[in-house]
Amino acid sequence: MLFREFGLTLDALRALQLERLKQALHHAYDHQAPYRAKCAATGVHPDDLRTLDDLRRFPFTQKSDLRDAYPFGMLAIPREKCVRIHASSGTTGRPTVVGYSARDIETWSDLMARSLYAGGARPGDIIHNAYGYGLFTGGLGAHYGAERLGCTVVPMSGGFGERQVQLIREFGARVVLMTPSYMLAIADEFDRQGVDPRDTAMRIGIFGAEPWTEGMRAEIERRVGIDAVDIYGLSEVMGPGVACEFVETKDGPTLWEDHFYPEIVDPETGAPVPDGQPGELVFTSLTKEAMPIIRYRTRDLTRLEPGSRTVMRRMAKITGRSDDMLIVRGVNLFPSQVEEQILRDPALSGHYVIELSRSGPLDDLLVRVEARLEAVHEARTTSAAALGERLKGICGLSAIIEVAEPGGIERSMGKARRVIDKRPQG
Ligand code: DLL
Repeated sequence: MLFREFGLTLDALRALQLERLKQALHHAYDHQAPYRAKCAATGVHPDDLRTLDDLRRFPFTQKSDLRDAYPFGMLAIPREKCVRIHASSGTTGRPTVVGYSARDIETWSDLMARSLYAGGARPGDIIHNAYGYGLFTGGLGAHYGAERLGCTVVPMSGGFGERQVQLIREFGARVVLMTPSYMLAIADEFDRQGVDPRDTAMRIGIFGAEPWTEGMRAEIERRVGIDAVDIYGLSEVMGPGVACEFVETKDGPTLWEDHFYPEIVDPETGAPVPDGQPGELVFTSLTKEAMPIIRYRTRDLTRLEPGSRTVMRRMAKITGRSDDMLIVRGVNLFPSQVEEQILRDPALSGHYVIELSRSGPLDDLLVRVEARLEAVHEARTTSAAALGERLKGICGLSAIIEVAEPGGIERSMGKARRVIDKRPQG
């Protein structure tokens, strides 16, 4: 069941998607009042869907729709039939609540197991899971998948850096799961303890929950001596394991299209964008029971690429979220562009923060970045000026670059906070 779909032909996959999509639309329409109301307002009915392309006639679902239905208004089954609730905190207001039926948990475990397998985990491996346990989907989602694959899970959760290193070493984890930014923090902790991560059993890290660049992948692989694999997911659609890279190719996460139908749309107009072109990722769940989701606007910016290891399509690395885009002095800037430039310099580490403020009429852009232990002098003398020039080159913005001591920038245990915006709002 877990991997049979790797062998599907494209025709078989499209036929399966169409059959499931019809069911999913009917299920949402029949049991999710907010979505039925949207369809009625648009004048479409699930019976109008005859081909996969017809999906574009159906209304989108937005995060605000989930918030408006807080807490349980989006459930398509009686609440009593939900075996679990997760929620994502969000930066403002109410959390977004998601519910799962027993069958949804089974599907999630299968897809997470499939993701871990693609990432290089194998039955019998020890998996150190440092994604946060709790309302966040990372910890429990990865946990159930690792069990399903037949691994031995260490349910570590985030935090306690010293303990993380101790248990990775002493239990002999071959695979570690955490955010990429936390992996860098753990790499620092290895250094602090004078332990070379290459002397442990750790070989693979499956990292996600936040955007990270190819530069960050190279940095982690260099420092920790492992394969760094990208896993993607979001709670509104399921949690981790919506897509995952294959360790053999590391060419962008393969979307598990037999359960989630992806589209790319223009973030401004919502118009469909062809494969290969950048835009906003949109998902329709094909098999979810408790909370089906039709054309969910993720705000994540990427493009769809043809399958490489399977017929299922891949997504390119996420360049950012449309709501993460900074507008600085009228120029659009994504934190990932800054990260890319930082990590081109071997004297700088991947710990950084972008601070925006306004003292006069113009925005001030400050990039605080950390020197690597072995290159503090160089970082202070040449890297700061060079980084400033590279940033000016890519976006035309002048930034103040502040090089902090190793350890000078605050670490996160989960998703890194990359931007501090102190500009007056409104
Ligand atoms: O972050 C689920 C997850 C947990 C994924 C563990 C992977 C590993 P949310 O908290 O709902 O769910 O946040 C989802 O995080 O829309 C993206 O913006 C971002 N994100 C997740 N994975 C990646 C990734 C989990 N691999 C939001 N690359 C998504 C870039 C990612 N961004």
